[in-house]
Amino acid sequence: MLIVANWKAYVDDLEKAKKLFAVNKKLSKVSKNKIVIAPSAPFLGVLASKNKSRVEFSAQDVSLSTGGALTGEITAQAYAAVGAKYAIVGHSERRAAGDDSKIVAQKLSHALTHGLTPILCVGEHERDGEGRYLSYVREELTSALGSLTQKELSGVVIAYEPVWAISTNAAGAIEPNDLTEMILYIRKVLAELLPGKSSSHSYALVLYGGSVEQNDIRALAANSGVDGFLVGRASVDPHTFSALVKQLD
Ligand code: PGA
Repeated sequence: MLIVANWKAYVDDLEKAKKLFAVNKKLSKVSKNKIVIAPSAPFLGVLASKNKSRVEFSAQDVSLSTGGALTGEITAQAYAAVGAKYAIVGHSERRAAGDDSKIVAQKLSHALTHGLTPILCVGEHERDGEGRYLSYVREELTSALGSLTQKELSGVVIAYEPVWAISTNAAGAIEPNDLTEMILYIRKVLAELLPGKSSSHSYALVLYGGSVEQNDIRALAANSGVDGFLVGRASVDPHTFSALVKQLD
């Protein structure tokens, strides 16, 4: 499975970042799972540029721009230059800060152009009884991915992160049955984006994120068909994160 550790803005101490990275390196030597860490930009630069381990790095976001007179922006190209391999785009915390579907599609395209694997976050704000949450997720997927080629699409990672389940605790995460339904639904939408293509084609990986903890990860992974997890808060404590990864080994 693919486990992406989204450090968000939780880690702002360089020594703590180095310690966490050391723990991740150790884990990556013994775990069957692939570990990707997404530190803040300065720490990604420090840690990724000398990285020789199996751990890979992700940007938490990329600029909408491709460079120029834009103070404070960090382009996909700059992230790739220091060794990032992935880029989270469309995280609900970035959408809340103003990234609309057009911006998300453009950021995703910049990531692809510079060789970064986009991790596209989608997810509804609330559940309703009429299935409107399904059309909401469909719209987020189609607006970001609709214009990609088959090859590009199969290289994108989708992270299903229902906004209502983020930053709570294991009790607030999705129920395994509901996750199974969503993973199937997302794969169906992805298949529709490529009508007529053979079923043997490898489609995008689909991850789940939203209050994943050591107590719920195994049940969420069990029969849901999920390809991995995007973990926020539980990824910045070394003991918690090690325990969580070990649940999947
Ligand atoms: P959480 O965050 O694990 O703290 O809920 C997940 C995410 O927002 O990526």
